[in-house]
Amino acid sequence: MPKINENYLNLKESYLFSEINHRVAEYTKQNPDKKVIRLGIGDVTRPLGDAIIKGLHEGVDAMASAGTFKGYGPEQGYEFLRSAVASYYAGHNISIDPSDIFISDGAKSDTGNITDIFGNDNVILIPDPVYPVYVDSNIMCGRKITYMSATAENDFLPLPDKNVHADLIYLCSPNNPTGAVYSYDQLKAWVDYALENEAVILFDAAYEAFISDSTLPRSIYAVEGAKKCAIEFCSLSKTAGFTGTRCGYTIVPKELVFKSSDGREVSLNALWNRRQTTKFNGTSYIIQKGAAAVFTEEGMAQCMENISYYKENARIICDVFAKKGIRYFGGEHSPYVWFECPGGMDSWTFFDYLLNNAQVVGTPGAGFGENGKNYFRLTGFGTRENTIEAMERIDKLI
Ligand SMILES: Cc1ncc(COP(=O)(O)O)c(C=O)c1O
Repeated sequence: MPKINENYLNLKESYLFSEINHRVAEYTKQNPDKKVIRLGIGDVTRPLGDAIIKGLHEGVDAMASAGTFKGYGPEQGYEFLRSAVASYYAGHNISIDPSDIFISDGAKSDTGNITDIFGNDNVILIPDPVYPVYVDSNIMCGRKITYMSATAENDFLPLPDKNVHADLIYLCSPNNPTGAVYSYDQLKAWVDYALENEAVILFDAAYEAFISDSTLPRSIYAVEGAKKCAIEFCSLSKTAGFTGTRCGYTIVPKELVFKSSDGREVSLNALWNRRQTTKFNGTSYIIQKGAAAVFTEEGMAQCMENISYYKENARIICDVFAKKGIRYFGGEHSPYVWFECPGGMDSWTFFDYLLNNAQVVGTPGAGFGENGKNYFRLTGFGTRENTIEAMERIDKLI
């Protein structure tokens, strides 16, 4: 009989979205005439830009002739896309060596798989509330997690505690679920801490394209020294609407060198390369052609149009909370609006209240961690029409 990985038994039941769907299905069954509006999901709704569609078509057409057909590609991604990503960073004054960039099928896989290259006895620091993949992927390996509190008191942006040592630190900015964004000085504090503690920051920049204030860092590498202490994950899911198309990338600078227990110098870039070449056969050529089109002038302009649309939705959501005097976070450099449940309700009670009285579906903060239990997340990813209607209903209700 095989011995199973019993660490999986320590995972909390992943019931957030299934419980939401269950409650909405029950409500719809009882109230078939009511129009329910969903502003809970983190999925995009706008179609891909024309330039990206053209890129995808070029990829498909290449498959039709023997001369241009592509079989297995490089596991790390095609050079044309790695260079396009590097140019994108260069456009934000950040120099990245294309060979430090690993193309993947998305940031969920990479943020989950990165555990493979680190040992089990690291001290792992994860904010609460948080994107659940960081927590669950570490529990799957039997690792102990130290949580750092993200609360209204620290604007949901926890800073390093010099009295606590950590080896691995997960940060996400702009944050899911809170929409909070670290400033340059705050990220510098983390980089300084990591360098001092010989720690590695695992920085998730999946929402960087939503930042419109040029003084806010879109990448951890905006901070000097970060290449010696940080891995960055990014995704085209929210930048370019690739949630269903699937493409992301992870940057593992060659400057990340640490000592093994027997004193050898080990490059994390080499370890990740080994991990990927062993367990991953690369992202499809067709998808990489579409992804490369994202980084053209025309492609990026089309992506930014969609992002502006989502941000305008987020602004419409924020305006109602501002008017009502409800404390909210995010929504400015993020598609997410994170707010305190009115009347001291806990997040599931508020979920039911909103569904029953306004037929609007959001995400209860409890699903992201203990500190989310009195908070709620709405997203700007809906249609304009639905966002306006949902917020008019909420405005009347609360
Ligand atoms: C913070 C964060 N990281 C990563 C992802 C996953 O991105 P991808 O679609 O590239 O797997 C998400 C998706 O919602 C996210 O919110």
